[in-house]
Amino acid sequence: MLSSSLFVIACATLASAHTMITYPGWRGNNFHTNEEFPYGMQWMYPCGGMNTTTNRTFWPTTGGAIAFQPGWFQGHATAFLYINLGFGTDGPHGGPQNMSNPMISPFQLLGPNKNPYPGTMCLPQVPLPVNATVKAGDNATIQLVELAIHGAALYSCVDITFVEPNDPRLAEVNETNCFNSTDLGIANIYTEVVRASGQTANATSDAVTTIWRHSQPVLGWLPLVLGGLMVLL
Ligand SMILES: *[C@@H]1O[C@H](CO)[C@@H](O)[C@H](O)[C@H]1NC(C)=O
Ligand SMILES: *[C@@H]1O[C@H](CO)[C@@H](O)[C@H](O)[C@H]1NC(C)=O
Ligand SMILES: *[C@@H]1O[C@H](CO)[C@@H](O)[C@H](O)[C@H]1NC(C)=O
Ligand SMILES: *[C@@H]1O[C@H](CO)[C@@H](O)[C@H](O)[C@H]1NC(C)=O
Ligand SMILES: *[C@@H]1O[C@H](CO)[C@@H](O)[C@H](O)[C@H]1NC(C)=O
Ligand SMILES: *[C@@H]1O[C@H](CO)[C@@H](O)[C@H](O)[C@H]1NC(C)=O
Ligand SMILES: *[C@@H]1O[C@H](CO)[C@@H](O)[C@H](O)[C@H]1NC(C)=O
Ligand SMILES: *[C@@H]1O[C@H](CO)[C@@H](O)[C@H](O)[C@H]1NC(C)=O
Repeated sequence: MLSSSLFVIACATLASAHTMITYPGWRGNNFHTNEEFPYGMQWMYPCGGMNTTTNRTFWPTTGGAIAFQPGWFQGHATAFLYINLGFGTDGPHGGPQNMSNPMISPFQLLGPNKNPYPGTMCLPQVPLPVNATVKAGDNATIQLVELAIHGAALYSCVDITFVEPNDPRLAEVNETNCFNSTDLGIANIYTEVVRASGQTANATSDAVTTIWRHSQPVLGWLPLVLGGLMVLL
């Protein structure tokens, strides 16, 4: 593990870095800002500007571990995280047709502050998307999305080949590559219906002030609001 000061140096070197998938790997380093990607490569849908790779890594047909480091750049005191799967290789650039198959419900990341921070988060048993059926030898792509507080998203992917869960080619998952740093908190995301679809509009009850008043007890909002203030300050 990097010490904090080493991490800051690493961050300064990787000036526009954001999310790195540490297990089972990633397509490659997309921590770049250049003429082709003037806002930074990692903002490009669907895989942060990286094309499909052929050095695929192995991942179990029964689902498995995904570990990542979300805090490689400032501005992520909070973020929403999504993990999706794209099937096959018959889409653009030899990748999947789409990445529209969620593997988990999104959750909120609570970082220590809005500056770059060290820390790894690991979900040891991410399932396949609902109703997915895969067999050993199938190719797919795992997409990690980090939704920043302003609504723009950072993308990282890893191309995988499914193998049986006891396959010796699977990289071992252990406390070295799959752990949660104490720096990183997690919050559940709630929604509250203000007006159901198909219901008559009501200017009084739809007012934003009403949404705020009704939502205050929902803790999930608090970090968002605080995070928003920190950006303004
Ligand atoms: C694939 O190769 C790229 C370029 O060498 C490397 O950055 C990346 O980590 C590799 N991915 C895997 C899953 O091994
Ligand atoms: C991805 O592939 C396309 C051609 O299919 C190429 O024009 C583009 O430069 C490649 N992107 C990167 C980042 O290598
Ligand atoms: C899966 O990907 C590997 C590496 O790109 C390729 O050699 C193999 O033919 C692919 N398999 C299928 C079923 O598409
Ligand atoms: C997404 O890709 C899958 C194949 O992986 C395909 O069956 C499905 O129709 C696609 N969905 C959309 C909305 O394109
Ligand atoms: C999964 O399959 C069941 C049974 O076919 C279906 O009712 C359900 O809508 C499917 N769920 C999704 C997310 O596709
Ligand atoms: C954990 O597994 C990795 C391979 O994924 C291996 O390199 C490392 O030595 C293992 N660590 C421990 C403590 O067993
Ligand atoms: C990390 O935290 C998440 C969320 O609480 C939890 O689901 C996961 O099991 C934890 N990972 C490890 C390796 O304990
Ligand atoms: C509109 O909302 C207010 C506040 O919830 C409620 O008192 C009023 O009865 C509603 N009016 C209609 C027409 O539904």
